[in-house]
Amino acid sequence: MFPSDLVSLLRGTPKLVALTGAGVSQESGLRTFRDSHPSPGSGQAGLWAQYKPTELASPEAFARDPKLVWDWYAWRREAVKGVRPNPGHYALVEIEKRAPQFILITQNVDNLHRFAGSQNVLELHGNIQRVRCADCYTFTETWDDDTETVPRCKECGGLLRPDVVWFGEALPRAQLEAAVEASRSCDVFFSIGTSGVVQPAASLAFAAHNRGAVVVEINAEPTPLTPKAEYVFEGKSGEILPQLVRAVWG
Ligand code: APR
Repeated sequence: MFPSDLVSLLRGTPKLVALTGAGVSQESGLRTFRDSHPSPGSGQAGLWAQYKPTELASPEAFARDPKLVWDWYAWRREAVKGVRPNPGHYALVEIEKRAPQFILITQNVDNLHRFAGSQNVLELHGNIQRVRCADCYTFTETWDDDTETVPRCKECGGLLRPDVVWFGEALPRAQLEAAVEASRSCDVFFSIGTSGVVQPAASLAFAAHNRGAVVVEINAEPTPLTPKAEYVFEGKSGEILPQLVRAVWG
């Protein structure tokens, strides 16, 4: 299944980077965003097939109706609590253990990479398990969910919000700079379970490609990156990644 030149390349000590998206968590039972058809894992189409991102995942939406946005993320947080990492997440933990230089960049806010045991994770879009004040940025571990209104910050009284990046918001600078640096200096760039349509994350693979890195795409369907990738494995990351780990690192 895996070309011998790719296997020997990975057996060297290349600098590896992997960018993951919602497709990696699909086999855990979480919905992706843009899958047009019900997926086997969640049995449902992508979230954006049912919900409008402009009404739920933007600062304007939060200003317009904070309770609606808060409840939607509370619902997603419960969905995340109800699932576990799948073999794709664990295979990436194995790669981190076996490859001397490996950085995992994720667009996912579901915390499943960390839950699986990944250490070297750059969270580009935040983490749904974290909650902070929309005004003073104070993080809080506890908040009252059973209120008619959005819980408030104990420091400044501002509204609490999930620590995720909404459409139109800047990505966390340190994470993004580290992700760009890693992508520009890697030898092999894996793009896994992402439709590759959301910037700036979608440009990282091209930055790596333009710097001569070998691009490997693992995705259930073709994406804008597919024509540029040296190796393309169309299918489920939860099946392909464990096989790759076995083929390369035995
Ligand atoms: N294995 C591999 N790929 C899969 C699997 C699977 N089991 N299931 C679905 N996919 C693929 C889909 O074919 C699709 O191309 O994963 C991709 C998921 O794409 P999106 O739903 O667009 O998710 P993502 O790329 O992570 O979205 C990027 O957009 O909505 C925002 O902030 C949100 O981080 C998210 C960003």
